[in-house]
Amino acid sequence: MTRERLGESFLIRECTTFEDFEQCMDMQRRVWQFSDLDITPFRSFIVTRKSGGFTYGAFDESGRMLGFSLALPAIDNWLEPYYYSQMLAVVPGYRDAGIGVKLKLAQREHALRTGIDLITWTFDPLQSRNAYLNIVKLGCVIRHYLVNYYGQVSSSVLHRGMDTDRLFPQWWVKSERVTDALAGRRETGKPLAVVEIPRDIDELKARDIEAAREWQFRVRRSFEQYFSDGLYVSGFEAGLEGGNSRYLFYRDEHQEEEQS
Ligand SMILES: CC(C)(COP(=O)(O)OP(=O)(O)OC[C@H]1O[C@@H](n2cnc3c(N)ncnc32)[C@H](O)[C@@H]1OP(=O)(O)O)[C@@H](O)C(=O)NCCC(=O)NCCS
Repeated sequence: MTRERLGESFLIRECTTFEDFEQCMDMQRRVWQFSDLDITPFRSFIVTRKSGGFTYGAFDESGRMLGFSLALPAIDNWLEPYYYSQMLAVVPGYRDAGIGVKLKLAQREHALRTGIDLITWTFDPLQSRNAYLNIVKLGCVIRHYLVNYYGQVSSSVLHRGMDTDRLFPQWWVKSERVTDALAGRRETGKPLAVVEIPRDIDELKARDIEAAREWQFRVRRSFEQYFSDGLYVSGFEAGLEGGNSRYLFYRDEHQEEEQS
């Protein structure tokens, strides 16, 4: 579904009813093809809502869910509260039409309303679309790489055959970087390092899983090296068709500023 065809004919609202949460369960089966063991259960959506978290859904005119996001209330080692966004999903066929960004914007509005500065989540470093969405469109920065975060027991079709390495983007929702990114202002200086990834890892996984694994090891090694050198990611370039995408690394001098 293209942006032109979909237009603004979807509605983003908070999920509050049993029917809404049923649709979130169904979405998990469709997007990740999780086994029942890996699905975040119905009760968790209800408990999360009661304990300060929230779920937003994108719905078409008939009330069918096209995407959702789930965020948990969280607290860091310094007892600062933040939100941990556990899931973001848009049904295949409706991607690249702006629904993902709109669901994230609803999370940001919620955070601003409740006085929370930071939302964080995880994504697979090899997924170019997610990286572009998080870094370029939303203005996240990245300082952490976790090797095989969920282990290898995941039933998701997106994970199969690979370690579940993850990046942890930080979305400082009040920061100038984020307001600039949301307004489409994207200035990036010359990076100190770059890490390339394929533009379409899923296609590569289907075609040549060994090659995909080699990419994962290479990317992991580079991230670990650059993060330990004191660099962080604050830029990304999406590869043109057939070309690779690139993470852009800079000296990490802005850690404090981003929070204000
Ligand atoms: C990640 C996901 C939620 C994004 O949703 P979406 O509705 O497609 O996102 P949007 O349309 O708002 O933004 C996607 C952007 O990535 C761009 N994009 C698409 N493919 C890309 C690629 N291979 N590399 C870089 N950018 C790409 C799109 O053009 C769009 O940018 P634009 O608006 O400037 O054109 C969706 O792809 C999904 O459900 N993926 C599977 C589950 C998942 O990975 N969830 C997140 C981790 S839990």
